[in-house]
Amino acid sequence: MKNTIAIIDLGGQYCHLIARRLRDLGVWSSIHGPEVKPDDLTSCSGIILSGGPRSVYEEDAPTISPDVLRLQVPILGICYGHQLLAQMLGAKVERWSSEYGSTTLLVVNQDMLFIKTPKQQTVWMSHSDTVTWLPPGLITLASTEQCENAAFADLAQCFYGVQFHPEVVHTEWGKQILRNFALAVCGARRSIGSVGSVESIESVAPFDPTDSTDPRDSIDSTDSIVQDIRTKVGENSVFFLLSGGVDSTVAFVLCAKALPRDRILGVHVDTGLMRKGETEEFIANLKDLGLADRVHIRRESSRFLDALREITDPEEKRQIIGRLFVEVQADAMREYGVDEHRSPATQSQGRCGGWLLGQGTIYPDTIESGGASGRAAVIKTHHNRCAEIIQLLQNGRVVEPLADFYKDEVRRIGASLGLASKLTNRWPFPGPGLAIRCLCSTAKIGSEPLDPELANLVNEYGYDGILLPIQSVGVQGDARTYRQTVALRGPLDYRALQTLSTKLCNVHTATNRVIVLVSGRADQPLPGGWNPLRDAMVKEANINERRLATLQEADFIARSIMEEYGQTDSVWQFPVVLIPVSFGTGETIVLRPVNSEDGMTANFARLPIEVLQHIADEITARLSDVDAVFLDVTNKPPATIEWE
Ligand code: XMP
Repeated sequence: MKNTIAIIDLGGQYCHLIARRLRDLGVWSSIHGPEVKPDDLTSCSGIILSGGPRSVYEEDAPTISPDVLRLQVPILGICYGHQLLAQMLGAKVERWSSEYGSTTLLVVNQDMLFIKTPKQQTVWMSHSDTVTWLPPGLITLASTEQCENAAFADLAQCFYGVQFHPEVVHTEWGKQILRNFALAVCGARRSIGSVGSVESIESVAPFDPTDSTDPRDSIDSTDSIVQDIRTKVGENSVFFLLSGGVDSTVAFVLCAKALPRDRILGVHVDTGLMRKGETEEFIANLKDLGLADRVHIRRESSRFLDALREITDPEEKRQIIGRLFVEVQADAMREYGVDEHRSPATQSQGRCGGWLLGQGTIYPDTIESGGASGRAAVIKTHHNRCAEIIQLLQNGRVVEPLADFYKDEVRRIGASLGLASKLTNRWPFPGPGLAIRCLCSTAKIGSEPLDPELANLVNEYGYDGILLPIQSVGVQGDARTYRQTVALRGPLDYRALQTLSTKLCNVHTATNRVIVLVSGRADQPLPGGWNPLRDAMVKEANINERRLATLQEADFIARSIMEEYGQTDSVWQFPVVLIPVSFGTGETIVLRPVNSEDGMTANFARLPIEVLQHIADEITARLSDVDAVFLDVTNKPPATIEWE
């Protein structure tokens, strides 16, 4: 434990990310539940209390033993951890105004935590509870407009609390703040060479908060992952479901490296929920990798579409898709003679061993599905975390070589395996595919005007807007939200839209997403003063072939134009979403280009206006089923990247 920072998991979405950031700094960490015994923490160099979805004043909210505060070890509380630490030190925590996403922080006392960071900086918040009063002995280090005690310290005891999240990439000085805590405050010394190989603690450099370790160095070898696969798989073989995306392909190639060819087999399922030309592109990639003969292709679109036709609820969609993947996998295993109890390695010798299920699960899939500890909130159930898969996991029948990694790390692992950059840099595409980008509605509902307070706010920035009666998923205060969208009409001024969308979601608790009109019928005021934006109507809609074809085409147009302008690599991901909102006879497309590093936080991408306008105009001109095209101008948090 010495030279280790102990992270206490209080149910936050970013708990594992804290460990990753420390690893990037070359500092070991260990993650514990809140019930950890203080005696088990005596020799660590520092303690970090994570965020979490609860309120510290709730009766059964997670807490830690007061003895942890008597260990004479530096502590950093983050978000919920900040509020818990403050409360345990006698401060007051109350429900206050919310802050989700980008927020400006003013540092009033630079102390150790903020050294080498500017007085004004952008941080990412996700809270509605706030430390409203500090007792004597605790001082304010930094404030935001809404939150006076956005950072505090008990300097005598080396206790610090920050309401924002230094562990997410969007907090611009977050890495430096964690470095200051881990290296300067705790004096923890760098002790990690690369993933899986530990250098002697004695041989590492003494702490130096100005030291600039390049986080890119932390994964320089895939050997340890390959070795782990061999250990986990033993005499078994591995059967993969391959989506064609980066994660499952990299996981498959790692298994192909770890095991003899006859002990890996894959199936790619064309669910009918793929993007245009996706299966064909995947087959070409497999050929390049020399693995085409190890993968079967199955066309199963009617099976998926039939099961989804009546489903509107996003979680229900996700559960159904997860279950169908398991069913297809079982059918495929039966058909291809892949036996759970007998594998090629053992068949001839009559020993035991069988086929395990391989998956390209990455860390965000686990945490957003409720995490491994059960303390984190379910934001959305990823397709590889449905109930049937959890059961297989519990029975030890699943291999997930990438389960501890984030997307950017997986891309680097893929590159080090020699995969083409066209594949490793592909925009992420979710397992449930277009099903979660094709929103449905069971009722016909009119849009609502904004309430006067919001309408004034919107007008102040030069926009007008409506509240669309269509809900989408958000992540606010480490918890899932399912809330309405505000649709705006006005200038495509990214700076104003960023401020306005953040304010709208902070002040209006029924909203977690904001979109702005780019092209279409809603843009053309009709004679007689009819305001099409105000007359938007949500129509009844389900998942069907026609709507999917419209969405596939809109997605294809967006991808092609991005490529034409050389803009593909300027965004991290670019979901195109079909929502059943009509401004006449058709529906609405929402463009959702985002920038991110790990998918845990994101900001809406500021595409060159010319490119954005071209995409939107082309979609409305070419697709008769589309009335209007909007741009999603919400960050994550408060909205998630995908709408469902
Ligand atoms: P959200 O929408 O939660 O997404 O901000 C974060 C990242 O995860 C992707 N995503 C999924 N990937 N299976 C996946 O393999 C899923 O069920 C799933 N749901 C979301 C999403 O596209 C984004 O990149």
